Amino acid sequence: MPNRLDLPAGFRWGVSTAAYQIEGAVDEDGRGPSVWDTFATRPWAVRDGQTGAVACDHYHRWPEDVALMRGLGLDGYRFSIAWPRIQPTGTGAVNPAGLAFYDRLVDGLLEAGITPLPTLFHWDLPQVLEDAGGWLNRDTAYRFAEYTAAVVDRLGDRVPAWITLNEPFVHMVYGYALGIHAPGRALMLDALPAAHHQLLGHGLAAEVLREHGREVLIANNLTPVRPATDDPSDVAAADAYDALHNRLFTDPLLLGRYPDLSAFGVTEDLGGAVRPGDLKLIAGPGLDGLGVNYYNPTRIAAPTDPGLPFTEAPIEGVPRTAFGWPVVPDGLRELLTGLRSRYGTALPPVTITENGCSYGEELDDQERISYLDGHLRAVEAAGAEGVDVRGYFTWSLLDNFEWAEGYHQRFGLVHVDFETQVRTPKASYAWYRDLIAAQRDRSAG
Ligand code: FCB
Repeated sequence: MPNRLDLPAGFRWGVSTAAYQIEGAVDEDGRGPSVWDTFATRPWAVRDGQTGAVACDHYHRWPEDVALMRGLGLDGYRFSIAWPRIQPTGTGAVNPAGLAFYDRLVDGLLEAGITPLPTLFHWDLPQVLEDAGGWLNRDTAYRFAEYTAAVVDRLGDRVPAWITLNEPFVHMVYGYALGIHAPGRALMLDALPAAHHQLLGHGLAAEVLREHGREVLIANNLTPVRPATDDPSDVAAADAYDALHNRLFTDPLLLGRYPDLSAFGVTEDLGGAVRPGDLKLIAGPGLDGLGVNYYNPTRIAAPTDPGLPFTEAPIEGVPRTAFGWPVVPDGLRELLTGLRSRYGTALPPVTITENGCSYGEELDDQERISYLDGHLRAVEAAGAEGVDVRGYFTWSLLDNFEWAEGYHQRFGLVHVDFETQVRTPKASYAWYRDLIAAQRDRSAG
């Protein structure tokens, strides 16, 4: 039995997934192609040429997956809606079969006593929109709001809270600056308009959600940034990296302005992308909650070549996951208390919308249990230091398609055999179930 945690009453327990990583059925019921369908079939784009064409076949097996979630006793399920199922060409006519899938899923979740927490964009842009410039094109933000309206008109009556975007930082950097993810563009700093247009899309979609009386969240990938040494050149480099990774995506939402990016030679209007009124719209009346996706801290040193004002330094002396990511649970406490000191009362309640780890195929996944336990202790510690954390959604329910790594990185509480689609709960599944039950008894008693 896991040790109990001192968390606030009403703390919400969940798991997270994303459409392209689990659904499969990419050609079914009128779904259009997404940037990930295109990217994954490029040679060398994904390890071993794997794609999300079948993934976990969740599109057909979702009742079994909801039953697994019911078995965990979850409060909430964070999943994403595939824009190309709703609008196969990214604009205009809505595909009824696509909406009907999420309608069934939402009803199935509610019947299982689980509150749906959908993400509207988790990186699978309709290919037609990418052909018109993707997130480098300001118009995509307006298309995103139009798509949001179609979805919330149909599901809004049963879904109280919505996440607009998943990790706009990672999407901009991996997708548009480095070309490691779809759409595979390697524009370096010229990718910055993709940050602004995603945030503008957030602001426009948030207006639609608020008109429907729904709560608005965003899920940001955040990392505490540590200078490699206290040498001023390392500290300056760490500040620059922090501005790019963290503040670029939270300052406009919480403070209504962009951070100083002059270390990158970038002007305050992000190379002309920002127009009058945009920042007011992005900040809006404020977020109902900030979703935090945390995996590890980042260590930064002074640049070694002239291209960028920083260089990443390895974090030594800590365990690593199968992905090679350093395991530093206290980084989550550091991140949360850091947000609180940076934003003060402008910081809305926080929900951990992703946190988890990849390990091998073993069903007795003690390393995952220890990872999750350590990070939950960090959430508890941040709460004791005054940060308002309302929930924890672990990544992920199932082993799934891990983007450029294909099926090689397994993050699930449930093992998936990708040949047979057989799902087998790991030890961490039972551990999480028992933890949730114990916490519930505690708040009831
Ligand atoms: C996050 C993504 C998520 C998953 C995890 C491991 O950056 O949001 O889809 O791939 O990493």
